[in-house]
Amino acid sequence: MKLLHVDTSPKSERSNSRALGRYFIEKLALRMPSLTVDHLDLVTDPAPAMTEAFTIASYTPAADRTVEMQHALVASDALCARMLDADALLFAMPMYNWSMPAAFKAFIDAVVRAGITYVATADGRYVGALGTKKILFLTTRGGDLRPGSPLAGMDALTPALRAAFEFMGAVEPCFIDAQPVQFAQPDDRAAALGRARAELNRVADAWSGHFGSATA
Ligand SMILES: Cc1cc2nc3c(=O)[nH]c(=O)nc-3n(C[C@H](O)[C@H](O)[C@H](O)COP(=O)(O)O)c2cc1C
Repeated sequence: MKLLHVDTSPKSERSNSRALGRYFIEKLALRMPSLTVDHLDLVTDPAPAMTEAFTIASYTPAADRTVEMQHALVASDALCARMLDADALLFAMPMYNWSMPAAFKAFIDAVVRAGITYVATADGRYVGALGTKKILFLTTRGGDLRPGSPLAGMDALTPALRAAFEFMGAVEPCFIDAQPVQFAQPDDRAAALGRARAELNRVADAWSGHFGSATA
């Protein structure tokens, strides 16, 4: 099973989302010795910035693109290929100002591609290409946005991720949100990380059951 693991936090050793992502992969590898991981770090290897050339090229049919248009799409094509090549996707990121880090938004803008990750049908529907993939969004939040908390209504991250990836065909993507991991007492932070790790173990069980645990 091939996993594309995308990291987004600008923090390195101190990052909660990076640590939880590593934890998940460790647990998954124990269950699935054949696991291979393609790691994409959007901080050191950012998705391309949006350009006018890209916006024109991406909506021009592939057969009609000039060489310049093809060049404008090279980095995006490569990111789409990495995503489509994986059986499962792990996207780890902090919540920033109630939504996603700009680095991850740039990734989304690069991979939502007509004719590659989705197609528009003649009868007006959109069909995405991610339908067979297992997808996990692992988000870390400094505050507590769980139901019942005063901040619960502020979550603009989950719906934005859901919309973009369900448009690309994601079916029942999984969300694990570690919270509160910054603006809280140490015991509450530790409990939040513990809850997240327990959920990650459950997803590792589910994925190894789905893909099978055979060695390569
Ligand atoms: C620029 C910035 C904006 C943030 N915005 C939010 C926010 O809107 N809500 C929240 O709960 N935490 C917010 N936080 C806290 C982070 O989500 C939290 O510290 C998280 O654990 C960071 O993940 P990381 O450790 O993987 O970098 C913000 C942190 C930064 C640096």
